[in-house]
Amino acid sequence: MGVIVTDLAAEPDVVDVLSTDHQEFLQLIEEIKLSVEAEARRDLADTLISELVRHAVAEEMYVYPAMRKHLPDGDEAVQHDTAEHKELEQTMKKLEAVDAGDGEFLALVGELETTLRDHVQDEESGQFPQLRARVPREELVEMAGKVEAAKKLAPTRPHPLAPNNQVFHKLVGPGVGLVDRLRDRLSGRSTA
Ligand SMILES: [Fe+2]
Ligand SMILES: [Fe+2]
Repeated sequence: MGVIVTDLAAEPDVVDVLSTDHQEFLQLIEEIKLSVEAEARRDLADTLISELVRHAVAEEMYVYPAMRKHLPDGDEAVQHDTAEHKELEQTMKKLEAVDAGDGEFLALVGELETTLRDHVQDEESGQFPQLRARVPREELVEMAGKVEAAKKLAPTRPHPLAPNNQVFHKLVGPGVGLVDRLRDRLSGRSTA
């Protein structure tokens, strides 16, 4: 049996993983805005919602506790960031209930983008550099693994009975909550 040598310096840490997610979210938003077909907009928006909820839950499980512990203003920063997650989720809940052909749809995407850009800016220029400065690199790499694993706990598509499409959204209407279902499942509160 050989010795497994891992090059720690080459492995992504949690800040790399989360920052890549942020870029992907903003890119998805651009794609939604450029989509001509309502069906494509719906699909992209549902993918965005699903990925963003995963990201937020994983941050709250593994990253925000570390911020509380290691950052001088950790409690305050976590409170602020968690409130922004709630705000993002409120907008996503509206978005999941609106027809992608409706004019309000793109207005909500714009609202989501504004809140998200602000949130990403807070994390990437505020809290993440502080985490890197204060938490040993092995821990940040380990945290990256935990975040990746947490995001995989729920399937990418929310539920076999709840396909992400226009017809489904029309039939069930508001309140069936991809956001809520996914959050519950990721944080282990649901048996569904
Ligand atoms: Fe984030
Ligand atoms: Fe966040």
